[in-house]
Amino acid sequence: MSGNSASSGLRGFSGGYRYSLLTIVWTVVGFFLVAHLISLYSRKDNIHQQVSSDQLQVVHHDHPVVHELVRVEEESLRLPPPRKRSPRTSKRRSRKPIPLVEEFLDEKSPIRHLFFPSVKTAAFGPTKDMGNETSYYFPGKIWMDTEGNPIQAHGGGILHDEKSNTYYWYGEYKDGPTYRAHRKGPARVDIIGVGCYSSKDLWTWKNEGIVLGAEETNKTHDLHKSNVLERPKVIYNEKTEKYVMWMHIDDANYTKASVGVAISDSPTGPFEYLYSKRPHGFDSRDMTVFKDDDGVAYLIYSSEVNSVLHIGPLTEDYLDVTPVMKRVMVGQHREAPAIFKHQNTYYMVTSWCTGWAPNEALAHAAASIMGPWEKLGNPCIGGNKFFRLTTFLAQSTYVIPLPGVPGAFIFMADRWNPADLRDSRYVWLPLIIGGPADQPLEFSFSFPTWSRVSIYWHSKWRLP
Ligand code: DGJ
Repeated sequence: MSGNSASSGLRGFSGGYRYSLLTIVWTVVGFFLVAHLISLYSRKDNIHQQVSSDQLQVVHHDHPVVHELVRVEEESLRLPPPRKRSPRTSKRRSRKPIPLVEEFLDEKSPIRHLFFPSVKTAAFGPTKDMGNETSYYFPGKIWMDTEGNPIQAHGGGILHDEKSNTYYWYGEYKDGPTYRAHRKGPARVDIIGVGCYSSKDLWTWKNEGIVLGAEETNKTHDLHKSNVLERPKVIYNEKTEKYVMWMHIDDANYTKASVGVAISDSPTGPFEYLYSKRPHGFDSRDMTVFKDDDGVAYLIYSSEVNSVLHIGPLTEDYLDVTPVMKRVMVGQHREAPAIFKHQNTYYMVTSWCTGWAPNEALAHAAASIMGPWEKLGNPCIGGNKFFRLTTFLAQSTYVIPLPGVPGAFIFMADRWNPADLRDSRYVWLPLIIGGPADQPLEFSFSFPTWSRVSIYWHSKWRLP
């Protein structure tokens, strides 16, 4: 009896044990099933949200000219047979053809006209007889101002002055002897100053002159003509009613690595140069400023020898940085930042660091401008593979919201001519936010929740 009861107790116990084990297993399985269903459901919701915002954009982009902007345009480069290296080099076994980027950088390259078409064959602007191509952009060709001179506003940015409903384009106005790519020796850069152009339509640009001039005699001055002034950007401060310019200030060897600040009562200057500094005590090279909808402005700069971007808010008068700063895209070696915002999301296009040589652009997105910033991938679409891997042979500098078309922007980039920086070209192309991002994201374990950023190649195009 007792044996039986003991064994039945044991059976009861082991049965109970098995029963509770099964219960635990099924509870865990059930828990995961429910969690999976919830995640699927919310993912579906996200996708729906994305689709509906895309549909929204499709509605906005239904204009026939907008449709044209997102047409994928292929472009074959008509290249002669690849050149071999010089006789001295070709004595060696390796007779590799010269890579296209090297051809691009070589001012004596026989295919240079493909990258830098001459003023005779390829200039556009209001003083040219454009036939029915008036107001078309021709990326890479020479863009003339209203006086028929090539526009000089490199590494530039745009200010939309609401008071006068006028656009101002500020950029590096360069001059001097032939420049050298600094891989071959120190750059010979004579600063002339910051050039300013005004326009009502973003195509017809009137030269407003040098709004911040170089210093001719005082060699210790930041703006002495032998120094470097790059990537000037201007924002308007509603409280002080001043136009504030931020720029990269450096010596000819790029060791000063500072930002400079200048101020003016008028968008067309003259700007008064205030000072330069290393923001937050760090080296600062390529930079931009971004003014948010709430009036807070931010400085974004490549730092720690270009290995990381720093972002921090400016003081209320926009004349200095505050102590707040975040390190973003750490170790990613990005420069040439261009920031823009759409539907409460911040976007940024940057380049890799290869001097004046073009390289592959990357787009990033963030819910807060202070980060984290997530990688979306290469935004370039169309053209050809070489174009896409070199940002259409150019480097980002600014992104302008396209008036009246939410989600559509103009991507502004510089096609640097290291042999003569004055002759650097502008590559302006339509940038559209929409459609799911095409790359798994660093911080998201589900499908991407950001929209894609796409820059469409067009050999010619115009605004809607
Ligand atoms: C790349 C930067 O983006 C430019 O503004 C300029 O600083 C060059 N490097 C100098 O090599």
